[in-house]
Amino acid sequence: MNFELNRVNIADIEADIEVIFVINNRRKHRFVQDRKLLKQAGFSGAQDESCLLVEKKRLYVGADSLKGTALRRSAASAMKALRGKRYQSIKVATYTDKGNSYSIRAMVEGFILGGYRFETYKSKKNSKKITYISISLDEYHKIDVDIEQASLEVHQAQVIAEATNFTRDIVNTAPEDCYPAVMASIAESMAKSTGLGCTVLKTKALKKEKMDALLAVGRASVHSPCVIHLAHRPKHTKFKVTLVGKGLTYDSGGLSLKPAEYMVTMKSDKSGASAVIGIMKAVAELDLPIEVHGFIGAVENMIGGNAYKPDDILKAKNGKTIEVRNTDAEGRLVLADVLCYAQQEITADYIFDFATLTGASVVAVGHYTSSVMGHNKKVQKMVVNAADKAGELATALDFNSYLKKTIKSEIADVCNIANVRYGGAITAGLFLSEFIDKRHKKRWAHIDIAGPAFVEHEWGENPYGASGAGVRLMLKLFEELISKHNDR
Ligand code: BES
Ligand code: ZN
Ligand code: ZN
Repeated sequence: MNFELNRVNIADIEADIEVIFVINNRRKHRFVQDRKLLKQAGFSGAQDESCLLVEKKRLYVGADSLKGTALRRSAASAMKALRGKRYQSIKVATYTDKGNSYSIRAMVEGFILGGYRFETYKSKKNSKKITYISISLDEYHKIDVDIEQASLEVHQAQVIAEATNFTRDIVNTAPEDCYPAVMASIAESMAKSTGLGCTVLKTKALKKEKMDALLAVGRASVHSPCVIHLAHRPKHTKFKVTLVGKGLTYDSGGLSLKPAEYMVTMKSDKSGASAVIGIMKAVAELDLPIEVHGFIGAVENMIGGNAYKPDDILKAKNGKTIEVRNTDAEGRLVLADVLCYAQQEITADYIFDFATLTGASVVAVGHYTSSVMGHNKKVQKMVVNAADKAGELATALDFNSYLKKTIKSEIADVCNIANVRYGGAITAGLFLSEFIDKRHKKRWAHIDIAGPAFVEHEWGENPYGASGAGVRLMLKLFEELISKHNDR
């Protein structure tokens, strides 16, 4: 999708259709010309409601406010309203929240995110798509918008939203077409085109690194596991960040087999890893002045004669022994080893892991929200705030010493499931914390994206299926961290 910023009046721009946002139901605004027709059509101007006036070549969309979240959703709704139609170009005015050009970014993100469709497996693809959007600097409040700043916002929005769509594509890909070696080649080719470093550890190297928990999870699959390390090392850096992603290209549950209805959608168990790949892509394309490392454990959890079993005792890379009581709690076993490896390779200022780790997180906070855990409330808050500003939902879940006791094992150092029924998202987080070393304890946050990563209906600017959860959140967090460092 191409964007162009125009200094000319919106009326003087050629396009197939004009998109007009009706803000907070202000139908008397100069942008709203078709009051009578809109009234006749019963258009109430509610958030996401749209009204297409074909002959006028105008599409009206309601927005609750000029805030980023509202505009992003409305722009996405515009794209949905135009889906399947023959329009190829859009023109739109500029809507800033009291001159804050950040709204341009939200709008552009909304257009790109809302225009996303996963068509890989459709034999008939939608050939008519919107490919061109012209933004007039004619502003809602008649404010003069700085074109330099605005074009920077457009560029950032494009990179971030396209990275999010890239992540969505990986997650949506069928497990037969996206197994660990494919994940590695996706990462490698992305790294090649963006200039990132990329190393892939295969079975032999994983054995040498003593990542036996990860190897056990992958053992019954015909697709051997791998660990991927992507690296962005700019010349001038402010600080170092490590990202870790759960990349279960399929989670059948293993011998603790999932019931049929819970197994469908488990191709999405690679969402953490896919988010890390998307984030790294944007970090490289924006050439952010921070060193960022992305580590991915790509594994398939299957059944078979050599499958790992409940009752097995595994030894993780840091030497801790784990009693396996459920092979479906496999993500934490993979992450245990990858977290250890990541910390061995890089001492970071911050370490974030992304994982579709527990159904319990979905039970606790619902489908749309990620849960954020860790030993540092400030870091948790940072993540939650960044999500809010980026248009994602996240909430902090607190650890406590009582739940910590529930993952004790009688025969090993720790057990891979808790001995109580409730609090599963937190006990999984506490399990991961066993593999965070002292120097990183206060620098770590675990982000359980099991809810929002893959939802089987459209919501906001997100499509059916993969949402790309984590990508916008993390890039916003980077932006905030960088500006904090610049202020020092
Ligand atoms: N990948 C699942 C978690 C999941 C569930 C992600 C639903 C997305 C949607 C994970 O590996 C898993 O199976 N966890 C178990 C843990 C349990 C055995 C302690 C779960 O949540 O039921
Ligand atoms: Zn599982
Ligand atoms: Zn899983």
